[in-house]
Amino acid sequence: MKKRYIAVLSVITLVVAAYSCKKSTSTQPLKGATLQLPATTAVYYDGGSFASSVDSLNKVATLGRVLFYDQHLSLNNAVSCGSCHKQSIGFSDNVAFSTGYEGKLTKRNSRPINDLAGSGSLFWDGRENSVNNLSLRPLTNHVEMGIEDANTLPQKLGNLGYYNTLFLEAFGNNMVTMDRISSAIGTFINAIKTGNSRLDQFNRGNTSALTAQEIQGKMLFDTKYNCGQCHNGGQGGVFLGGGSYGGNGFSFLDIGLNNSYTDMGRGTLTGLSSDNGTFRVPNLHNVALTAPYMHDGRYKTLDEVLEHYSHNIQDSPNLDTLLKDNKGHARQMNITDAEKKAIIAFLNKLTDYQMISDPKFSNPFKVNN
Ligand code: HEC
Ligand code: HEC
Repeated sequence: MKKRYIAVLSVITLVVAAYSCKKSTSTQPLKGATLQLPATTAVYYDGGSFASSVDSLNKVATLGRVLFYDQHLSLNNAVSCGSCHKQSIGFSDNVAFSTGYEGKLTKRNSRPINDLAGSGSLFWDGRENSVNNLSLRPLTNHVEMGIEDANTLPQKLGNLGYYNTLFLEAFGNNMVTMDRISSAIGTFINAIKTGNSRLDQFNRGNTSALTAQEIQGKMLFDTKYNCGQCHNGGQGGVFLGGGSYGGNGFSFLDIGLNNSYTDMGRGTLTGLSSDNGTFRVPNLHNVALTAPYMHDGRYKTLDEVLEHYSHNIQDSPNLDTLLKDNKGHARQMNITDAEKKAIIAFLNKLTDYQMISDPKFSNPFKVNN
Protein backbone atom coordinates (compact mmCIF):
# COMPACT_ATOMS: atom_id res chain seq x y z
CA MET A 1 0.00 0.00 0.00
CA LYS A 2 1.20 3.47 -0.81
CA LYS A 3 2.25 5.33 2.33
CA ARG A 4 0.47 8.54 1.62
CA TYR A 5 -2.85 6.78 1.66
CA ILE A 6 -2.49 5.24 5.05
CA ALA A 7 -3.93 8.16 6.97
CA VAL A 8 -6.90 8.40 4.70
CA LEU A 9 -7.48 4.71 4.67
CA SER A 10 -7.42 4.37 8.40
CA VAL A 11 -11.01 5.47 8.66
CA ILE A 12 -12.50 3.71 5.71
CA THR A 13 -13.68 0.35 4.65
CA LEU A 14 -12.83 -2.73 2.76
CA VAL A 15 -14.18 -1.20 -0.38
CA VAL A 16 -11.15 0.96 -0.66
CA ALA A 17 -8.68 -1.67 0.36
CA ALA A 18 -5.42 -2.70 -1.09
CA TYR A 19 -5.10 0.01 -3.54
CA SER A 20 -2.34 0.74 -5.90
CA CYS A 21 -2.92 3.96 -7.73
CA LYS A 22 -3.84 3.19 -11.32
CA LYS A 23 -6.05 4.84 -13.86
CA SER A 24 -9.31 3.27 -14.78
CA THR A 25 -9.56 1.41 -18.03
CA SER A 26 -12.85 0.44 -19.57
CA THR A 27 -16.33 1.16 -18.32
CA GLN A 28 -19.04 -1.06 -19.67
CA PRO A 29 -20.59 -3.43 -17.19
CA LEU A 30 -23.82 -1.96 -15.98
CA LYS A 31 -25.34 -1.57 -19.39
CA GLY A 32 -28.86 -2.81 -19.51
CA ALA A 33 -28.95 -3.74 -15.81
CA THR A 34 -31.67 -2.27 -13.66
CA LEU A 35 -32.09 -2.29 -9.93
CA GLN A 36 -35.04 -4.39 -8.87
CA LEU A 37 -35.94 -4.49 -5.21
CA PRO A 38 -39.07 -5.98 -3.65
CA ALA A 39 -41.90 -3.56 -2.82
CA THR A 40 -41.73 -4.47 0.85
CA THR A 41 -38.43 -4.49 2.71
CA ALA A 42 -37.03 -8.00 3.05
CA VAL A 43 -36.55 -9.37 6.55
CA TYR A 44 -32.87 -9.79 7.31
CA TYR A 45 -33.23 -9.43 11.06
CA ASP A 46 -36.37 -10.48 12.81
CA GLY A 47 -36.23 -8.92 16.19
CA GLY A 48 -34.47 -10.49 19.16
CA SER A 49 -31.99 -8.03 20.57
CA PHE A 50 -32.61 -5.78 17.60
CA ALA A 51 -36.37 -5.67 18.07
CA SER A 52 -36.69 -1.92 18.57
CA SER A 53 -34.75 -0.95 15.49
CA VAL A 54 -35.40 -3.93 13.31
CA ASP A 55 -37.18 -2.04 10.58
CA SER A 56 -34.35 0.38 9.97
CA LEU A 57 -31.84 -2.45 10.31
CA ASN A 58 -33.58 -4.27 7.48
CA LYS A 59 -33.41 -1.11 5.38
CA VAL A 60 -29.72 -0.75 6.11
CA ALA A 61 -29.22 -4.39 5.07
CA THR A 62 -31.19 -3.74 1.88
CA LEU A 63 -28.87 -0.86 1.07
CA GLY A 64 -25.96 -3.17 1.89
CA ARG A 65 -27.26 -5.72 -0.58
CA VAL A 66 -27.32 -3.14 -3.36
CA LEU A 67 -23.81 -1.95 -2.49
CA PHE A 68 -22.53 -5.53 -2.33
CA TYR A 69 -23.59 -6.13 -5.91
CA ASP A 70 -22.89 -2.70 -7.36
CA GLN A 71 -19.99 -2.61 -9.79
CA HIS A 72 -19.83 1.15 -9.28
CA LEU A 73 -17.90 0.31 -6.11
CA SER A 74 -14.89 -0.44 -8.26
CA LEU A 75 -12.89 2.28 -9.96
CA ASN A 76 -13.68 1.17 -13.49
CA ASN A 77 -17.11 -0.33 -12.73
CA ALA A 78 -15.75 -3.76 -13.53
CA VAL A 79 -16.26 -5.74 -10.31
CA SER A 80 -18.52 -5.82 -7.28
CA CYS A 81 -18.14 -7.73 -4.05
CA GLY A 82 -20.44 -10.27 -5.64
CA SER A 83 -17.94 -10.90 -8.46
CA CYS A 84 -15.67 -12.82 -6.09
CA HIS A 85 -18.32 -13.82 -3.55
CA LYS A 86 -21.00 -15.60 -5.55
CA GLN A 87 -24.19 -16.54 -3.75
CA SER A 88 -24.78 -19.77 -5.69
CA ILE A 89 -21.49 -21.15 -4.39
CA GLY A 90 -21.75 -19.98 -0.80
CA PHE A 91 -20.42 -16.48 -1.57
CA SER A 92 -17.06 -17.91 -2.61
CA ASP A 93 -15.40 -17.95 -6.03
CA ASN A 94 -14.83 -20.96 -8.26
CA VAL A 95 -11.25 -20.12 -9.15
CA ALA A 96 -8.05 -20.34 -7.11
CA PHE A 97 -7.45 -16.59 -7.42
CA SER A 98 -10.14 -14.09 -8.28
CA THR A 99 -9.86 -11.31 -10.80
CA GLY A 100 -9.91 -7.74 -9.52
CA TYR A 101 -10.86 -4.50 -11.22
CA GLU A 102 -8.00 -4.34 -13.68
CA GLY A 103 -7.65 -8.04 -14.25
CA LYS A 104 -5.19 -8.38 -11.39
CA LEU A 105 -5.44 -11.60 -9.42
CA THR A 106 -6.02 -11.79 -5.68
CA LYS A 107 -3.20 -13.26 -3.63
CA ARG A 108 -5.37 -15.86 -1.95
CA ASN A 109 -8.45 -17.94 -2.57
CA SER A 110 -11.69 -16.06 -1.99
CA ARG A 111 -13.40 -17.02 1.25
CA PRO A 112 -17.03 -17.93 1.50
CA ILE A 113 -19.23 -15.54 3.44
CA ASN A 114 -21.57 -17.00 6.04
CA ASP A 115 -22.03 -16.89 9.79
CA LEU A 116 -19.54 -14.08 10.21
CA ALA A 117 -21.50 -12.13 12.82
CA GLY A 118 -19.59 -12.42 16.06
CA SER A 119 -16.68 -14.25 14.49
CA GLY A 120 -13.36 -13.77 16.18
CA SER A 121 -11.37 -12.93 13.09
CA LEU A 122 -11.61 -12.56 9.36
CA PHE A 123 -9.54 -13.52 6.35
CA TRP A 124 -7.10 -16.38 6.03
CA ASP A 125 -4.67 -14.64 8.36
CA GLY A 126 -7.12 -12.99 10.76
CA ARG A 127 -6.11 -9.45 9.88
CA GLU A 128 -9.56 -8.13 10.71
CA ASN A 129 -11.47 -8.84 13.89
CA SER A 130 -15.05 -8.69 12.81
CA VAL A 131 -17.35 -7.49 10.10
CA ASN A 132 -18.21 -4.57 12.37
CA ASN A 133 -14.63 -3.42 12.30
CA LEU A 134 -14.44 -3.34 8.57
CA SER A 135 -15.19 0.33 8.69
CA LEU A 136 -12.27 1.07 10.96
CA ARG A 137 -9.38 -0.28 9.00
CA PRO A 138 -8.59 -1.01 5.41
CA LEU A 139 -8.39 -4.63 4.43
CA THR A 140 -5.09 -4.69 2.70
CA ASN A 141 -4.51 -6.91 -0.29
CA HIS A 142 -8.07 -7.85 -0.43
CA VAL A 143 -10.54 -6.24 -2.62
CA GLU A 144 -8.84 -5.04 -5.77
CA MET A 145 -11.62 -2.63 -6.53
CA GLY A 146 -9.37 0.35 -7.00
CA ILE A 147 -11.14 3.17 -5.22
CA GLU A 148 -8.24 5.24 -3.93
CA ASP A 149 -9.71 8.09 -1.98
CA ALA A 150 -12.27 8.26 0.78
CA ASN A 151 -14.16 11.06 -0.93
CA THR A 152 -14.48 9.71 -4.43
CA LEU A 153 -16.71 6.79 -3.62
CA PRO A 154 -19.44 8.61 -1.64
CA GLN A 155 -19.43 11.28 -4.30
CA LYS A 156 -19.66 8.76 -7.10
CA LEU A 157 -22.46 6.83 -5.43
CA GLY A 158 -24.27 10.03 -4.50
CA ASN A 159 -24.53 10.80 -8.19
CA LEU A 160 -26.38 7.57 -8.89
CA GLY A 161 -30.08 8.28 -8.56
CA TYR A 162 -31.07 5.07 -6.85
CA TYR A 163 -28.93 5.67 -3.76
CA ASN A 164 -30.90 8.75 -2.76
CA THR A 165 -33.91 6.80 -1.56
CA LEU A 166 -31.87 3.90 -0.28
CA PHE A 167 -29.72 6.08 2.00
CA LEU A 168 -32.72 8.12 3.03
CA GLU A 169 -34.66 5.05 4.07
CA ALA A 170 -31.71 3.42 5.80
CA PHE A 171 -30.28 6.43 7.62
CA GLY A 172 -32.94 9.14 7.67
CA ASN A 173 -31.24 11.38 5.12
CA ASN A 174 -29.56 10.82 1.80
CA MET A 175 -26.03 11.68 2.81
CA VAL A 176 -23.56 9.15 1.43
CA THR A 177 -20.53 8.58 3.66
CA MET A 178 -17.89 5.88 3.89
CA ASP A 179 -19.09 4.98 7.38
CA ARG A 180 -22.60 4.42 6.12
CA ILE A 181 -21.40 2.44 3.13
CA SER A 182 -19.35 0.14 5.29
CA SER A 183 -21.93 -0.26 8.00
CA ALA A 184 -24.58 -1.11 5.39
CA ILE A 185 -22.37 -3.73 3.75
CA GLY A 186 -21.50 -5.13 7.18
CA THR A 187 -25.16 -5.29 8.16
CA PHE A 188 -25.94 -7.19 4.96
CA ILE A 189 -23.04 -9.60 5.36
CA ASN A 190 -23.86 -10.30 9.00
CA ALA A 191 -27.32 -11.43 7.95
CA ILE A 192 -25.91 -14.19 5.73
CA LYS A 193 -26.27 -17.27 7.89
CA THR A 194 -26.52 -21.00 7.50
CA GLY A 195 -28.92 -23.04 9.56
CA ASN A 196 -30.89 -25.21 7.24
CA SER A 197 -28.45 -27.80 5.95
CA ARG A 198 -29.27 -31.48 6.34
CA LEU A 199 -26.82 -31.56 9.23
CA ASP A 200 -28.69 -28.70 10.92
CA GLN A 201 -31.93 -30.62 10.45
CA PHE A 202 -30.30 -33.74 11.86
CA ASN A 203 -29.03 -31.77 14.85
CA ARG A 204 -32.53 -30.45 15.44
CA GLY A 205 -33.74 -34.01 15.88
CA ASN A 206 -34.69 -35.14 12.40
CA THR A 207 -32.72 -38.37 12.46
CA SER A 208 -33.65 -39.27 8.90
CA ALA A 209 -31.95 -36.12 7.57
CA LEU A 210 -28.68 -38.06 7.24
CA THR A 211 -28.18 -41.52 5.73
CA ALA A 212 -26.22 -44.26 7.46
CA GLN A 213 -23.20 -43.52 5.25
CA GLU A 214 -23.37 -39.81 6.09
CA ILE A 215 -23.58 -40.58 9.80
CA GLN A 216 -20.57 -42.83 9.44
CA GLY A 217 -18.77 -39.94 7.70
CA LYS A 218 -19.68 -37.66 10.59
CA MET A 219 -18.20 -40.12 13.08
CA LEU A 220 -15.02 -40.49 11.06
CA PHE A 221 -14.76 -36.71 10.89
CA ASP A 222 -15.57 -36.09 14.55
CA THR A 223 -13.76 -39.01 16.12
CA LYS A 224 -11.53 -41.38 14.18
CA TYR A 225 -9.63 -38.77 12.16
CA ASN A 226 -10.08 -35.87 14.56
CA CYS A 227 -10.99 -33.43 11.82
CA GLY A 228 -13.48 -31.95 14.23
CA GLN A 229 -10.78 -31.07 16.74
CA CYS A 230 -9.87 -28.24 14.45
CA HIS A 231 -12.97 -27.75 12.37
CA ASN A 232 -15.62 -27.88 15.11
CA GLY A 233 -14.25 -25.02 17.12
CA GLY A 234 -11.92 -27.09 19.29
CA GLN A 235 -8.38 -25.96 20.07
CA GLY A 236 -9.48 -23.69 22.88
CA GLY A 237 -11.22 -21.29 20.55
CA VAL A 238 -14.82 -20.37 20.17
CA PHE A 239 -17.54 -21.58 17.91
CA LEU A 240 -18.43 -19.33 15.09
CA GLY A 241 -22.06 -18.53 14.50
CA GLY A 242 -23.97 -21.32 12.88
CA GLY A 243 -22.93 -23.96 15.38
CA SER A 244 -20.62 -26.86 14.69
CA TYR A 245 -18.43 -27.13 11.63
CA GLY A 246 -18.32 -23.37 11.54
CA GLY A 247 -14.58 -23.37 11.91
CA ASN A 248 -12.73 -21.62 14.62
CA GLY A 249 -12.39 -17.90 14.82
CA PHE A 250 -9.08 -17.85 16.61
CA SER A 251 -7.09 -20.83 15.46
CA PHE A 252 -4.42 -20.40 12.85
CA LEU A 253 -2.82 -23.69 11.99
CA ASP A 254 -0.35 -25.27 9.63
CA ILE A 255 -1.65 -28.45 8.07
CA GLY A 256 1.52 -29.36 6.21
CA LEU A 257 0.65 -28.24 2.71
CA ASN A 258 4.29 -27.40 1.98
CA ASN A 259 7.77 -28.23 3.27
CA SER A 260 8.63 -24.58 3.18
CA TYR A 261 6.40 -21.55 2.91
CA THR A 262 5.76 -19.19 0.05
CA ASP A 263 2.84 -17.48 1.83
CA MET A 264 3.61 -16.87 5.50
CA GLY A 265 -0.08 -16.63 6.37
CA ARG A 266 -0.63 -15.44 9.92
CA GLY A 267 3.12 -14.85 10.19
CA THR A 268 2.85 -12.02 7.68
CA LEU A 269 0.74 -10.21 10.21
CA THR A 270 2.44 -11.04 13.52
CA GLY A 271 6.03 -11.40 12.34
CA LEU A 272 6.38 -14.45 14.60
CA SER A 273 8.13 -17.40 12.98
CA SER A 274 5.83 -19.72 14.92
CA ASP A 275 2.92 -18.23 12.96
CA ASN A 276 4.49 -18.78 9.58
CA GLY A 277 2.47 -20.99 7.27
CA THR A 278 -0.54 -20.96 9.57
CA PHE A 279 -3.98 -20.08 8.24
CA ARG A 280 -7.37 -19.65 9.82
CA VAL A 281 -9.31 -22.89 10.10
CA PRO A 282 -11.97 -22.62 7.43
CA ASN A 283 -15.65 -22.69 7.95
CA LEU A 284 -16.93 -25.90 6.38
CA HIS A 285 -20.53 -24.81 5.92
CA ASN A 286 -21.32 -25.07 2.22
CA VAL A 287 -17.89 -26.63 1.66
CA ALA A 288 -19.24 -28.84 -1.14
CA LEU A 289 -19.81 -25.64 -3.15
CA THR A 290 -16.69 -23.67 -2.37
CA ALA A 291 -13.99 -25.41 -4.44
CA PRO A 292 -11.16 -24.87 -5.07
CA TYR A 293 -9.84 -25.41 -1.55
CA MET A 294 -7.16 -24.10 0.81
CA HIS A 295 -5.80 -20.55 1.03
CA ASP A 296 -4.21 -20.92 -2.39
CA GLY A 297 -7.00 -22.89 -4.01
CA ARG A 298 -4.63 -25.77 -4.76
CA TYR A 299 -7.17 -28.59 -4.47
CA LYS A 300 -9.99 -28.79 -6.95
CA THR A 301 -12.08 -31.42 -5.18
CA LEU A 302 -12.82 -32.72 -1.70
CA ASP A 303 -11.25 -35.97 -2.86
CA GLU A 304 -7.96 -34.15 -3.29
CA VAL A 305 -8.36 -32.55 0.15
CA LEU A 306 -8.87 -35.97 1.72
CA GLU A 307 -5.88 -37.33 -0.17
CA HIS A 308 -3.84 -34.53 1.41
CA TYR A 309 -4.83 -35.62 4.91
CA SER A 310 -4.50 -39.27 3.96
CA HIS A 311 -1.00 -39.37 2.44
CA ASN A 312 0.36 -35.94 1.55
CA ILE A 313 0.88 -34.06 4.81
CA GLN A 314 4.36 -32.52 4.71
CA ASP A 315 6.85 -32.07 7.54
CA SER A 316 6.44 -28.31 7.52
CA PRO A 317 8.15 -26.23 10.23
CA ASN A 318 4.95 -25.40 12.13
CA LEU A 319 2.94 -28.53 11.39
CA ASP A 320 0.19 -28.87 13.99
CA THR A 321 0.72 -31.65 16.53
CA LEU A 322 -2.63 -33.22 15.67
CA LEU A 323 -1.18 -33.97 12.26
CA LYS A 324 2.03 -35.54 13.55
CA ASP A 325 2.66 -39.18 14.42
CA ASN A 326 4.23 -40.19 17.72
CA LYS A 327 7.71 -39.71 16.28
CA GLY A 328 6.90 -36.11 15.50
CA HIS A 329 6.66 -36.59 11.76
CA ALA A 330 3.83 -35.87 9.38
CA ARG A 331 1.03 -38.31 10.03
CA GLN A 332 -0.22 -40.70 7.36
CA MET A 333 -3.92 -41.05 8.02
CA ASN A 334 -4.35 -43.75 5.36
CA ILE A 335 -8.03 -43.03 5.01
CA THR A 336 -9.63 -45.85 2.99
CA ASP A 337 -11.63 -45.18 -0.15
CA ALA A 338 -14.88 -46.14 1.54
CA GLU A 339 -14.09 -43.83 4.43
CA LYS A 340 -13.26 -40.96 2.08
CA LYS A 341 -16.59 -41.48 0.36
CA ALA A 342 -18.40 -41.42 3.68
CA ILE A 343 -16.62 -38.26 4.86
CA ILE A 344 -17.37 -36.50 1.58
CA ALA A 345 -21.00 -37.65 1.68
CA PHE A 346 -21.18 -36.11 5.14
CA LEU A 347 -19.48 -32.85 4.09
CA ASN A 348 -21.99 -32.56 1.26
CA LYS A 349 -24.73 -32.33 3.90
CA LEU A 350 -23.31 -29.09 5.27
CA THR A 351 -24.78 -27.24 2.30
CA ASP A 352 -27.55 -24.77 3.10
CA TYR A 353 -29.53 -24.59 -0.15
CA GLN A 354 -31.91 -22.07 1.35
CA MET A 355 -29.12 -19.58 2.00
CA ILE A 356 -27.62 -19.89 -1.45
CA SER A 357 -30.95 -19.38 -3.19
CA ASP A 358 -32.55 -16.85 -0.85
CA PRO A 359 -33.70 -13.90 -3.02
CA LYS A 360 -32.88 -11.36 -0.30
CA PHE A 361 -29.19 -12.21 -0.67
CA SER A 362 -29.24 -12.24 -4.46
CA ASN A 363 -28.04 -9.72 -7.01
CA PRO A 364 -30.71 -7.02 -7.28
CA PHE A 365 -29.29 -5.72 -10.57
CA LYS A 366 -31.08 -7.62 -13.31
CA VAL A 367 -29.90 -7.55 -16.87
CA ASN A 368 -32.78 -7.19 -19.26
CA ASN A 369 -31.13 -7.61 -22.62
C1 HEC B 1 -11.39 -9.42 -6.67
C2 HEC B 1 -12.07 -10.34 -5.78
C3 HEC B 1 -12.75 -9.84 -4.55
C4 HEC B 1 -13.62 -8.76 -4.44
C5 HEC B 1 -14.04 -7.79 -5.51
C6 HEC B 1 -14.06 -8.78 -3.07
N1 HEC B 1 -13.50 -9.80 -2.38
FE1 HEC B 1 -13.83 -10.29 -0.45
N2 HEC B 1 -12.41 -11.72 -0.52
C7 HEC B 1 -11.65 -12.01 -1.63
C8 HEC B 1 -10.53 -12.85 -1.26
C9 HEC B 1 -9.45 -13.37 -2.19
C10 HEC B 1 -10.66 -13.08 0.14
C11 HEC B 1 -9.68 -13.84 1.04
C12 HEC B 1 -8.51 -12.90 1.27
C13 HEC B 1 -7.62 -13.30 2.41
O1 HEC B 1 -8.09 -13.92 3.36
O2 HEC B 1 -6.44 -12.95 2.39
C14 HEC B 1 -11.87 -12.37 0.56
C15 HEC B 1 -12.36 -12.36 1.86
C16 HEC B 1 -13.47 -11.64 2.27
C17 HEC B 1 -14.05 -11.67 3.59
C18 HEC B 1 -13.53 -12.49 4.76
C19 HEC B 1 -14.38 -13.73 4.98
C20 HEC B 1 -13.81 -14.61 6.06
O3 HEC B 1 -14.45 -15.60 6.45
O4 HEC B 1 -12.73 -14.34 6.54
C21 HEC B 1 -15.11 -10.81 3.59
C22 HEC B 1 -16.03 -10.51 4.76
C23 HEC B 1 -15.19 -10.24 2.28
N3 HEC B 1 -14.19 -10.77 1.50
C24 HEC B 1 -16.14 -9.30 1.91
C25 HEC B 1 -16.06 -8.59 0.71
C26 HEC B 1 -16.86 -7.40 0.42
C27 HEC B 1 -17.89 -6.80 1.34
C28 HEC B 1 -16.49 -6.98 -0.81
C29 HEC B 1 -16.97 -5.74 -1.56
C30 HEC B 1 -16.79 -4.47 -0.90
C31 HEC B 1 -15.48 -7.91 -1.30
N4 HEC B 1 -15.24 -8.85 -0.34
C32 HEC B 1 -14.93 -7.83 -2.56
C33 HEC B 1 -11.89 -11.56 -2.91
C34 HEC B 1 -12.67 -10.46 -3.23
C1 HEC C 1 -4.78 -29.43 12.81
C2 HEC C 1 -6.11 -28.91 12.50
C3 HEC C 1 -6.84 -29.56 11.36
C4 HEC C 1 -7.21 -30.88 11.24
C5 HEC C 1 -6.92 -32.03 12.20
C6 HEC C 1 -7.96 -30.98 10.03
N1 HEC C 1 -8.03 -29.75 9.42
FE1 HEC C 1 -8.93 -29.36 7.65
N2 HEC C 1 -8.11 -27.49 7.64
C7 HEC C 1 -7.38 -26.94 8.67
C8 HEC C 1 -6.82 -25.68 8.22
C9 HEC C 1 -5.96 -24.72 9.05
C10 HEC C 1 -7.21 -25.53 6.88
C11 HEC C 1 -6.80 -24.38 5.94
C12 HEC C 1 -5.38 -24.63 5.50
C13 HEC C 1 -4.84 -23.67 4.47
O1 HEC C 1 -5.56 -23.25 3.56
O2 HEC C 1 -3.63 -23.36 4.57
C14 HEC C 1 -8.03 -26.69 6.56
C15 HEC C 1 -8.68 -26.87 5.34
C16 HEC C 1 -9.62 -27.87 5.11
C17 HEC C 1 -10.52 -27.91 3.99
C18 HEC C 1 -10.60 -26.88 2.87
C19 HEC C 1 -11.66 -25.85 3.18
C20 HEC C 1 -11.65 -24.65 2.28
O3 HEC C 1 -12.65 -23.92 2.29
O4 HEC C 1 -10.67 -24.40 1.57
C21 HEC C 1 -11.30 -29.04 4.14
C22 HEC C 1 -12.40 -29.50 3.22
C23 HEC C 1 -10.84 -29.71 5.33
N3 HEC C 1 -9.84 -28.97 5.89
C24 HEC C 1 -11.36 -30.90 5.81
C25 HEC C 1 -10.74 -31.64 6.82
C26 HEC C 1 -10.98 -33.05 7.08
C27 HEC C 1 -11.96 -33.91 6.32
C28 HEC C 1 -10.16 -33.40 8.10
C29 HEC C 1 -9.96 -34.76 8.73
C30 HEC C 1 -9.55 -35.82 7.83
C31 HEC C 1 -9.42 -32.20 8.50
N4 HEC C 1 -9.80 -31.17 7.70
C32 HEC C 1 -8.52 -32.15 9.55
C33 HEC C 1 -7.19 -27.49 9.93
C34 HEC C 1 -7.36 -28.86 10.20
